[in-house]
Parts: sequence; structure tokens; C-alpha cells
Amino acid sequence: MSDIAKRNAALEALNLVEEGMTLGLGTGSTAAIFVDELGKKVKEGFDVVCVATSEATDAQARSLDIPMADLDTAPAIHLTVDGADEFDPELRLVKGGGAALLREKIIADSSDVMVVITDASKQVKQLGAFPLPVEVNPFGMALTKARVEETLEILGMNGIHVNVRLNQDGTPLLTDGGHHILDLHCKAIPDADMLGAVLDQIPGVVEHGLFLDIADAVIVGTETGTETISRED
Ligand code: 5RP
Repeated sequence: MSDIAKRNAALEALNLVEEGMTLGLGTGSTAAIFVDELGKKVKEGFDVVCVATSEATDAQARSLDIPMADLDTAPAIHLTVDGADEFDPELRLVKGGGAALLREKIIADSSDVMVVITDASKQVKQLGAFPLPVEVNPFGMALTKARVEETLEILGMNGIHVNVRLNQDGTPLLTDGGHHILDLHCKAIPDADMLGAVLDQIPGVVEHGLFLDIADAVIVGTETGTETISRED
């Protein structure tokens, strides 16, 4: 994914931002470009209040003097702009490559409008080529992992590797919420609704990276511009 394509998508999303809005700020390299560009507008006096989907984005936004609100006391979120790891023709997403899926989903799901900024490399016919991140509580993680593996088998998704996401030093990665991430190497997810529903039922699963009815539009950046795919299309 080229930086030009990312920037074009981010700039197009910036056109959707109106004075006085409360914005949800996504996580990842594409969202970071959006936050940088928003910071430039704020410096010129543009009035917005934001909530961040990760500590990293929060730190970036604060370093740019973007006014940040506490999610619990913030007014309703008008618009969230975030990246994605995959999107399909129904604008269903896989997210969590940057381990921020829990906060990303809480914020995206509470937003009036959720817009994804990405490029065509993330466009798939069927979700699942990107390993599906599942955020789990550290307590009893081995048991939760076994339950996830068993559930995949019951769904007929056999032989799928489930890996605990690790830091470079080999320790399990800790999310901003103090959880771990299981990456499900599904290759293909034939029934994303079913998989999402059963994962939701497993004790110890905090959240999964299937964002199935949340995105309103995807802005696909290219080298020369953007194409927007909206839910109504
Ligand atoms: C983080 C995410 C990111 O939005 C996703 O990984 C895309 O990142 P990038 O814009 O760097 O490709 O879901 O949890």
C-alpha cells in the first residue's frame, strides 16, 4: 500500500469533517496520516473534539494539539475514520492488525458514521485471507484458545492455525486494554456472521476483529485519487 494512496484516502475523508464535530480517530498507518492532516486544520483554528481508538493515536493527536475528549463524557460521535485490514463487497471488515480492535469497535459502533480509509490491496471477495484477530482475556488464555480451535472445527473450518500474537521478545503482546490477541489463520471465512456470533459466545473472548455491519463507506485511495464505495451503492 503506497503512502500516496493512503494520503489520498485520508485527504478525501478530511472533506467529510465539519466544524464542531466529535470525531473518532482510528489506529494504524493510514489513520495516522488522517490525524496528521487533521492536526494541520486544527492549527489553523478548525474546531473539533476527538476520541482515540488507541493510546498511540491519542498520543499522536495530543502532540498535534488536537482537542481530545474522554469517551465517557464526550458528546455523541458524529464520524469515525479508521483503516482496515480487509473489506468485502458488503463493506464488512477485518480489523485489529494493529491490536486496537476492541477500542476501534466500541468507537466505530457508537458513531453516527464510520468511514474506512484504505487502498485496493485490502479489497477481497471473501474475508479471511488476513488472519482474524481475536482479543482475549489473559486469564485462562490456553483454555480460551482451545475453545476457539474447537469452535472452528465445529464450523467445519478445519486445520486452522491459531497463534498467540507475540512481541519481538517472544512475550504475548498486550493490548491497550491489557488483553492478548489470538490470530486465526482462516484463509477464508465462508460465513462471517456465524463465526462472529459463535466467537461472541466464548467466555474469555473480549472482542473479535469482524466488523460486520458497522462501516458506512470505504474510501479507496489510489495513486491518482480515490474511489468511494458506500453502503447504499
Ligand atoms: C488496527 C487496525 C488498522 O486500522 C488496520 O491494521 C490497518 O492499518 P494500516 O492503515 O496501517 O494498513 O485495524 O487495529
